[in-house]
Order: sequence, then C-alpha cells, then structure tokens
Amino acid sequence: MARREEDIERAVAELAAGKLIGLPTETVYGLAADGTNPAAVRRIFAQKGRPTGHPLILHLGESAWIHRYARDVPPLALDLAEAYWPGPLTLVLKRTEEVPLEVTGGLDTVALRVPRHPLALEVLRRLGRPLAAPSANRFGEVSPTTRAHVIHDFGDTLFVLDGGPCDVGLESTIVDLTEDLPRVLRPGGITEGQISQTASRALGKADEGAPAVPGTLEAHYAPRAELRLVDPSRLYGEVVHALDEGETVGVFGPDAPPAALQSRISFEKMGSIASVAHDLYATLRRLDDARCTVIFSVFVDESGLGRAVADRMKRACVGSRRSRMS
Ligand code: TXA
Ligand code: MG
Repeated sequence: MARREEDIERAVAELAAGKLIGLPTETVYGLAADGTNPAAVRRIFAQKGRPTGHPLILHLGESAWIHRYARDVPPLALDLAEAYWPGPLTLVLKRTEEVPLEVTGGLDTVALRVPRHPLALEVLRRLGRPLAAPSANRFGEVSPTTRAHVIHDFGDTLFVLDGGPCDVGLESTIVDLTEDLPRVLRPGGITEGQISQTASRALGKADEGAPAVPGTLEAHYAPRAELRLVDPSRLYGEVVHALDEGETVGVFGPDAPPAALQSRISFEKMGSIASVAHDLYATLRRLDDARCTVIFSVFVDESGLGRAVADRMKRACVGSRRSRMS
C-alpha cells in the first residue's frame, strides 16, 4: 500500500476511535477530532490548554453538508460557499442540534468551513463526519504551518498527516452571517473586498457585539521572543540599540542588514505580501529556535491580504510582551 493511502487510513481510523490527529489544511495545521463525538472534542481543549468556552471551527467534506449542521442558512452563505469553498473562509451560522455544545462553547451558532487541502478533504469524505479543529499549537502561541511545527508542540505521540507547508499560512477569514449585516470577525486569506463583492453590500463593523473569542483576543500568536514592529526607516537604528543593550536580535524585514550587522543578527527576508503570510509563523518559530530575545519586523500595508498579516503581527506583538512580563 502506498504511504499516502496508509496514512489516510490510519488518520480515519484514529478519528473514528475518538483520537486526535494533526491535519494539514491550506491555512494552518489543525488539531482535529470527530466533531460529532463530544468526548473526542473535549480532548482537543485538554491537549491545547484552551479554555472550554472558546468555540471551534467545524470542517466539512462538502458544501452540501452545511444544511446538516446549520439552520436558517441565508442565501449569502450559499453564495460565499459557492465562491470560496473549498478554501480559507469560515462562516458563522445558526447551529442545528447535530452540533455538540462542546464544539460551540455553548453558543447557539457554529463556525463552518470546507478546507482546500486534498488530504483534509480525503479524510473528511472517508470519515463522512465533520472535524472539529483549532490550529495545532499550544493556546496563545504561534500557529503551525508544517508537520514539524505540530510535532514540536505536541510530541510524536500525536499522529500528524504530512501535507507539506500550508499554502496560505494564516488562519481562515471568519464571517459572521447571523446578524443583519455580514461582519468579518477575523481577517484571513479571503479579503474583506472579496466578501463585500459577493455580498454586494457594505459589511458591518467587527467589534460591535462580537463574542470574546481566541482569534479576537488582543494578545495571541505570540513567539517567545519579544516582537517589536517598527517603521522600515528606523529598523536598523533600533536593531543597533537593542544589540547595545545585550539582546539577541532577529529581523524579519524587507531590506538586508548593513554589512557591519550581518554577522550579529539573524535575518529573514520579507517578500511579497502573499509570501509574508505564507512565511510569518515559520519565521517567528525559526527566530525563536535561534534563541532571539527580540524580533524586529516592520508595519505592512494593510490593504487586501495585508490586513490579515498586520492583524496577526500586532497580536503577536502584544502577546509576546505580555508573556515576557508574566
Ligand atoms: O484556518 C483556520 O481557521 C484554522 C484551520 C485549522 O481550519 N483553524 C483555526 O481555528 O484557526 P482556531 O480554533 O485557532 O480559531 C477558530 C476561531 C476562533 O477565533 C473562534 O473563537 C472562532 O473561530 N469561532 C468558532 N466558532 C465561533 C462562533 N460560533 N462564533 C464566533 N466565532 C467562532
Ligand atoms: Mg488558533
């Protein structure tokens, strides 16, 4: 039996037995459980160290499954599903009784998406049930975009399917469709412009009445090092200052360091905004592994995908300061 086939069968068997697996998706790797098995879903919270009130996304194998897990589905949900599923878009809808309360943290709504990764789709379709899966990292820390990241965080007792590095590299866009106006709760791979175009109307404001949920916490996605965001023109001045103070410095920036600094810092080059999205988490993890105490990066242009990149960088920045103070 080919390796891929063997791995898929093992993944499906473990899920059917109520175990957790590491699941590649096009956004980030997920820590997945059978989303219809409450005991399995509870294991996700325990493994991740995640508070149980924080709801999980339910991943579907086909758009058609939407009606089994969501009720009063508005036409816009079907339009968005048609346009962007499989893909990095999560829709918050009213849930049906089929969804265990463990998945939704007791909410009457449920977050649904069809992932685009072929291995995730194959596992979902063979299992024939949805998978509850948060990002496969410890709560509050940097999300995983490779199998090695997941094993780094959870050890090799967890079975992790190897789907290569994630295409998008940032978590899905979350759109709440339970109110009059659609609202983006978390920016991601599908931009607000794309959503409002499909909706043919303006979107509601994200912060009005939004539930306090992990992806919307001010501090999240944090590396161990302190992340500092600066204006590109001030970058190397700040780096020199930090070196003078005895810090071990990493830089994720657009311009290579001046020759005199090259051997004194760890430098990772920023490319296009899509490549920054793709590389951000892996880069933060690499600079942590290089034992940097401070990581410098720059503010990015917040249009299109830049919105999601800036969102994650700012939360990582706040989160890294907080964990250093505590
Ligand atoms: O790309 C992704 O979305 C990845 C991959 C694995 O699919 N998953 C992911 O899951 O990022 P997680 O648990 O790290 O983030 C899920 C987000 C949280 O911010 C959660 O609060 C929100 O989805 N969410 C889930 N159900 C919700 C609901 N009923 N209402 C509002 N927000 C919800
Ligand atoms: Mg997460």
